[in-house]
Amino acid sequence: MVAKLWLRIVTVMLGVLLIGVAQANIPTVPNELYEALKLDREKTSPKELYEAVVKRYKDPAQGAGPGTLAKYWEPIPYGIYLDPATFYKAPTSNKDVASRKECVECHTDESPVWVQAWKRSNHANLDKIRSFKPSDPTFYKKAKLEDVEKNLRSHGKLAEGEQLKEVGCIDCHVEVGAKKKADHAKT
Ligand code: HEC
Ligand code: HEC
Repeated sequence: MVAKLWLRIVTVMLGVLLIGVAQANIPTVPNELYEALKLDREKTSPKELYEAVVKRYKDPAQGAGPGTLAKYWEPIPYGIYLDPATFYKAPTSNKDVASRKECVECHTDESPVWVQAWKRSNHANLDKIRSFKPSDPTFYKKAKLEDVEKNLRSHGKLAEGEQLKEVGCIDCHVEVGAKKKADHAKT
C-alpha cells in the first residue's frame, strides 16, 4: 500500500512538472537559464529572454571582453576567431555601402567560392525546405524553419503571415532581416 501511495505522489508531481514545461514559451530552454537571468518563465516573452541573454553575454562583469589584463597581451588569430565580438575588426579597405542584393553581386566576383557555398546551402533556398515531403530524411527542417519564423515574428523582424525568403550574407554579417544598406567597414 505504502509503495503504491508513493507511486501516486510521484506521478502527480511529474504531471505538475510536465504541465509547467508545456506552458513555457520555449520548452527547450532550461529553467536554470531563467533563474540565472532572474526572469519569470511564465511571463517572459522570447524577445525579452533574447535581450536578457545578449545583455548578460556582453556584460564584462560576467566575463565578456578581453579582461582586466588586456593591456599586457594581444590575441593570436585563433583567439580573434573564437571571440569576434571582442577582437574582430572588419577590413576598412572597402568603403562600400551595400544592399542585400549588392553583397551577393560583388562577392560573386570577389569571393565566388563563398557565394557558391551559400547558393548551394539551404540558407539560399528556403522554399526547398518548405516543399520537403514527410518521407524526406531532412523533413524535420520544415518545422525548424517555421519555429525560426515564429521567433522572428515575436521579435518584430517578420510581419504576421510573412515568410522568410532567405538567410543572406547581410543577415549573418550585419543584422538579421536588414532592410537598409549596410556599411562594409562594419560587416
Ligand atoms: C563592391 C564590392 C563589395 C560589396 C558590395 C560587398 N563586399 Fe564584402 N568584400 C569585398 C572585398 C573586396 C572584400 C575583401 C576586403 C579585404 O580583405 O580587405 C570583402 C570582404 C568581406 C568579408 C570578409 C571580411 C574579413 O574579415 O575578411 C565579409 C564577411 C563581407 N565582405 C561581407 C559583405 C556583406 C555582408 C556585404 C553586403 C552588405 C558585402 N560584403 C558587400 C567586396 C564587396
Ligand atoms: C548563416 C550565416 C552566414 C551566412 C548566410 C553567410 N555567412 Fe559568411 N560567415 C559566417 C560566419 C559565422 C563566418 C566565420 C566563420 C568561418 O570562417 O567559417 C563567415 C565567414 C565569411 C568570410 C570569411 C571571413 C574571414 O575572416 O576569412 C567571408 C568572406 C564571408 N563569410 C562572406 C559571406 C558572403 C559573401 C555571404 C553571402 C553569399 C555569406 N558570407 C553568408 C556566417 C554566414
